Amino acid sequence: MRASGFSRMAFEGRPIVGICNSWSEVVNCNMHFRGLADSVRRGVLAAGGFPLEFPTMSLGEQLMKPTTMLFRNLMAMDVEESIRAYPFDAVVLLGGCDKTVPAQLMGAASADVPAIALTGGPAAPAIFDGKQLGVGTDLWQYIDDVRAGRMSMADYERLEAAAGPSRGHCPEMGTASTMATLVEGLGMTLPGTAAIPAMDSRRLQVAEECGARAVGLAVERLRPSQVMTAEAFDNAITLMLAVGGSTNAIVHLLAIAGRVGVPLSLDRFHELSERTPLVVNVRPAGEHLVEQVFHAGGIPAVMKSVEPLLHTDAATVTGKTVADNLAAVAATDATVIAPLAAPFQPPGGLAVVRGNLAPDGAVVKCSAASPELLVHRGPAVVFENMRDLMRRFDDPDLEVTADSVLILRSAGPRGAPGMPEWGQLPIPSKLLRQGVTDMVRISDARMSGTAYGTCVLHVSPESAVGGPLALVRDGDIIALDAPARRLDMLVSEDELSSRRAELAPAPARHTRGYAALYTERVLQADRGCDFDFLVGRSRTPEDEPEAIFEGWIGGW
Ligand code: FES
Repeated sequence: MRASGFSRMAFEGRPIVGICNSWSEVVNCNMHFRGLADSVRRGVLAAGGFPLEFPTMSLGEQLMKPTTMLFRNLMAMDVEESIRAYPFDAVVLLGGCDKTVPAQLMGAASADVPAIALTGGPAAPAIFDGKQLGVGTDLWQYIDDVRAGRMSMADYERLEAAAGPSRGHCPEMGTASTMATLVEGLGMTLPGTAAIPAMDSRRLQVAEECGARAVGLAVERLRPSQVMTAEAFDNAITLMLAVGGSTNAIVHLLAIAGRVGVPLSLDRFHELSERTPLVVNVRPAGEHLVEQVFHAGGIPAVMKSVEPLLHTDAATVTGKTVADNLAAVAATDATVIAPLAAPFQPPGGLAVVRGNLAPDGAVVKCSAASPELLVHRGPAVVFENMRDLMRRFDDPDLEVTADSVLILRSAGPRGAPGMPEWGQLPIPSKLLRQGVTDMVRISDARMSGTAYGTCVLHVSPESAVGGPLALVRDGDIIALDAPARRLDMLVSEDELSSRRAELAPAPARHTRGYAALYTERVLQADRGCDFDFLVGRSRTPEDEPEAIFEGWIGGW
C-alpha cells in the first residue's frame, strides 16, 4: 500500500472498499464508468472508508463475438477471485451491459463479501425522423423493413448513426434494463437506482451514496448470501414479470441463485407468472422507454404497485426491509406504471412449456408474442445450425408458409457454443413480402431482451447433447400450447426411438482453452448455464474462521 503512494493515514483502521469496475473502451454502454467510479470513491471517503478501484473483464454486446454469454462465467470467475483474493471489506459492483451485471452478481455471491451494485443507467432515447427509438426493439423492425424493400440502405445508415446518442445501456426494457431492475428487486442496490438515466447527474449522486453505503455494509458484515435469499429471488422474478423483462434474466437468475444455494427452478417462474400482471408500459411489451419509467417513479413505484405480491420482509443492502424501503413511495403516472388492479396485461406474460420436444423446459415470452400463435400446430422447417439458417432462409425455393414452425438447433450452451441470441429467427423474405410479421420459432438459443415474436426459447436439453430438438425433421407437426404449458412434436415414440438410435454423437469442436472448458462444464439453460463446478454456496471466513490464516478461503 505504501508503494502505491498511500500513507497509513489513508487506509489504517478504515474499511477497504473495492470498486469493481467493468469500464472498457470496447463496451460502449460502460464508457461513463470512470466518472461513476470517481463518485463512488467520494462517497466511500466521505463515509470514512478507503476506496480501491480494480478492473475486471468487460462484456460488450455490440462487439464481442461469438456472444457475450460465452464469457459471462469467465467474467464471474474474474470478479469472484478478485474480490476474494484482495483484502476488501466490501465491494461496489459497477456494471451496465447485458452480461456484466449478472456476472458481477454471480461473482460477488460466490465471494460473499459485502457488496452493493450500481448499474450504469439507460442511455438517452434516440430520435430518428421525429420518432423516439428503442435501440434494439426498433432495430429489429427496421432490419425487416430493409429486407422487405420498405427501407433503403441510405436511410438505414442514417438510422445507425442516430441509434446510440449517449452513454448508457439500451434504453428499453431489454436485458440490461431488466437486470438493473432485478438488482433492485433482489435488494442489492439502493432503491430507485436502476432507472436513473445514465447521463442524469442524479446517477452520480446515487453513486456517492452507494460508496457511502458500502462502508456501512463493511461494518455490518451484511453479505450477498444474506440479501439474495429465496424470497429475494421471488421478488426479482415478480418484478421481471411486472415490467415485461427479458427472458435472458431467467438464465441469469437461475445461475445467481445457484451461487447462493437457493433452489430455484424454471417452474417457479411459471408459478409467479400466473399471478403477476404487466404493470409497466415500457418497450418491448409497451410503448415507453425506461427514462419515462424513471420519471413515473422508477422501480420503487413499480414495486409499490406489485407490493402485495412481494415478500416485503426481505432484507436489502439498505439494512432495511423491502417494506421499509417502500413505505414512503407513492404511485405517480398510471399511464406508465399502472396499479395492480388495472394492469396493462393480465398475468401469464411468461410461460414455461414442456413436452416431448423440451422435457426439461423451454420458455415463451407471451407478452411479446402474437396471441393467436400461442396455440398453434404447423409443419417443421428445420435448420441444422446458424450457418444453415443464413444460407437457406431467404431461398425462394424454401418450402415454408406462414403456418410453418421454424426450428433452429445447435444454438444452445454447448452447441453454438454460448447460447447466442439467435432465437428470434428471421422470417423468410418471401413471407415478409406477403405481410407475414410473426411465426412460431423454436430453438435452444436465447433471444435479445429487446426482441419480440412468438419464439420458444431455451429448449432443454439442447440438441447438441442429444435433446429431442435433434430428432425433429422437416414436415413433422409441431404443437405449441403455451396456456397448457405444452410443446410437442406429433411423432410416435417408436419413430423417435429409431431416430435417436441413428443420431451420431457430435464430435468435440473445441479441444483447447476457455472454449474447451466451457463446452465441457457448462450446464443446460434450465440450470442457468453456469459451470457445474461453480454451483453451490461458498464457505466464508465466518464458516471457517481459522481458514482465514491459511491463505485460501471461500469456495476452494
Ligand atoms: Fe449494452 Fe444493450 S448493448 S446494454
